[in-house]
Amino acid sequence: MQLIDGKAVAEQVKQEIAAEVAKMVARGQRAPHLAAILVGHDGGSETYVANKIKACAVCGFKSSLIRFEETVTEAELLEAIDRLNRDEGVDGFIVQLPLPKHIDEQKIVEAIDYRKDVDGFHPVNVGRTCIGLPSFLSATPAGILELLRRYHIETAGRHVVIIGRSNIVGKPLANLLMRKDYPGNATVTVVHSYSSDIKEQCLSADIIVCALGRPRFLKADMVKPGATVIDVGTTRVPSEQTKSGFKLTGDVDFEAVAPKCAYITPVPGGVGPMTIVSLMKNTLLAGSKAVF
Ligand code: GUN
Repeated sequence: MQLIDGKAVAEQVKQEIAAEVAKMVARGQRAPHLAAILVGHDGGSETYVANKIKACAVCGFKSSLIRFEETVTEAELLEAIDRLNRDEGVDGFIVQLPLPKHIDEQKIVEAIDYRKDVDGFHPVNVGRTCIGLPSFLSATPAGILELLRRYHIETAGRHVVIIGRSNIVGKPLANLLMRKDYPGNATVTVVHSYSSDIKEQCLSADIIVCALGRPRFLKADMVKPGATVIDVGTTRVPSEQTKSGFKLTGDVDFEAVAPKCAYITPVPGGVGPMTIVSLMKNTLLAGSKAVF
């Protein structure tokens, strides 16, 4: 069994991005600029955004954080998005999700200029990804592809089972793994809460991607010996062993499943760090005007 070290790959990719940025600056171009909108003070969102801003510094990007209280109106948020859309000094921006209940998240996502949508959530980017046109890829699927690439894991003709059909992981990943490209050319099955044969599908899989958000869902008796397992789960489970009072727990029963695998991602330190790196890659592309 080989552990897929997402943290190490993420560090390497950030260094590669920093080298590209240094070249841009040496050519007289400005460094890419990522802006983030954060609403409220949710602990998870605060941590994610702080990590994104730290990653910007490592990559040599400029970053800005625009904060709003929980009570912000939809109109105020749309106004901030409009300003960022028109600001030529900002290459890409994100609105950290989730948003308070009184705000229509889809309306917010669709208000972002797709050419600055470095999260890859806008329907234009989702659609373009789906039909294989240049686009900003959604961060988690892009991070998973990068891990498969860096570990030279074969996907052509392989059976990939994705557990979970979310718009930001399951659906785009299924599309990407079907592409006529590497990683891709896979036979992809997506299973979800209404599937009656999840175990049977998983037992036939060469690669299993667990993205349903249920801690320790994938058990050892669901995995074929020699399979590759990618764990997207990051549920914050209360824990007395950590200072923060919670422990990030994946969707895979890691201790039991790992000995059966060819490759497996840990949680934390697997897919998570790659997600932020994908955002950095999209920001570099946005700054270089390489997609749109
Ligand atoms: N909330 C959880 N993950 C993400 C992400 O990738 N982007 C944004 N904008 N919000 C999130």
